[in-house]
Amino acid sequence: MEIIQGFSKLTREEKIEVLLKHNAVSQEMVNKLELFRHHDHNYQKQFEKISENVISNYILPYSIVPNVKINDKIYFVPLVTEESSVVAAASMAAKFWAGRGGFKTKVLSETKIGQIHFTWKGSYDKLIENDDRLKIHLVTSVRHLTQRMYSRGGGLGNIEIISFADKIIDYYQIKVDFNTADAMGANFINSCLEQMSKALVDFINNNFSGEETFCEIIMSILSNYTPECIVECAVECNKTELLPMTGGLSLENYIKKFETAVQIAQMDVYRAVTHNKGIFNGIDAVLIATGNDFRAVEACGHAYASRTGQYTSLSCCENSATDFRFILKVPMAIGTVGGTTRVHPIAGFSLEILNNPSAAGLMEIAAAVGMANHFAAITALITKGIQKGHMKMHLSQILVHLQANENEVKQAVGYFADKEISFNAASEYLSLLRLQSL
Ligand code: MEV
Repeated sequence: MEIIQGFSKLTREEKIEVLLKHNAVSQEMVNKLELFRHHDHNYQKQFEKISENVISNYILPYSIVPNVKINDKIYFVPLVTEESSVVAAASMAAKFWAGRGGFKTKVLSETKIGQIHFTWKGSYDKLIENDDRLKIHLVTSVRHLTQRMYSRGGGLGNIEIISFADKIIDYYQIKVDFNTADAMGANFINSCLEQMSKALVDFINNNFSGEETFCEIIMSILSNYTPECIVECAVECNKTELLPMTGGLSLENYIKKFETAVQIAQMDVYRAVTHNKGIFNGIDAVLIATGNDFRAVEACGHAYASRTGQYTSLSCCENSATDFRFILKVPMAIGTVGGTTRVHPIAGFSLEILNNPSAAGLMEIAAAVGMANHFAAITALITKGIQKGHMKMHLSQILVHLQANENEVKQAVGYFADKEISFNAASEYLSLLRLQSL
């Protein structure tokens, strides 16, 4: 196939022509894709600004989890997810915990990090000797960028010069701490770093001689690893209050199995990844609904789970003789101003539904929903298993696929209430139903 040149410069209609010409889409698909474009021209334009080469919209359900009680305040939390059981699981657990004190959350720190990676032929000791002057030079070079951020309560933090010359020849790093207030801050951080890297080259040129004037910037970029941007979420109750969750197990056995499930995730990477994925089911869904970069948060969360050298659970149990206490600690560099949070109209609605939280407030809400999903998942796994709930939700997807009408859906849901659900079984049942009604 020929290399397509200048695709991004074509109009949407021209792009579709190219796709048709290369048999990438049929005319029937084009007609269907058209149906998913917004009928309001202005909204459609707004969506198209979010990305490039847009030919239609990819629609996901927008759901609400009610009863999310966080630090004594109740929220309706918007979720966007393609996994059918996530909203039901979060809703069940949120309601359960709302009656038991709710989620107790705390933002422990909000530091974000950027790095300037460079090579230099000088000696580290000499750089450290000039450390104070260099840092002042770097901070001064970005004053025009940081002024507004300082007035919003953010700005620059600690600056560290680190030598890695023992690992990569002539390689050094400047690590800068940032507080980006309510913004996720990627653009702010990267702009500061690029400016600082020029100031670094300038400083080295003016303060060293000979070979030591040669400093090459490899790259300047924020780090998505933010172990100092952390939120904690805990749920706690008297053990007897867990009775409605035990699903036929004795209370002691339910608690024992719960603790063991968490211990397994603390020592076994195969289980830990799935265990933590159950947490991100909720967190990601809130982050997508509010226009945040969930990939960055996921990447960071999994790295944080490996911070001791062994990938482990992000949650732990701290039960006493009488009380159940379950805690989640997760890094989350997110924002509630700027970026997609305000460009995507529905992300804006989400923030409004949440009473326009600060970035720290949104960290707490996302962590609480992550905890809700996580608690529901472990409870299901150690009691009835997850397939029963999953397949019930899956049945409605199968029925949509088989184009079942309202009456057929009603009958199928009743029929499969106590039966094994599969695509074949649902398809056969529907065929029979349709034959009988002929
Ligand atoms: C499924 O999306 C999430 C779970 O696998 C999480 C877990 O195993 O803890 C149920």
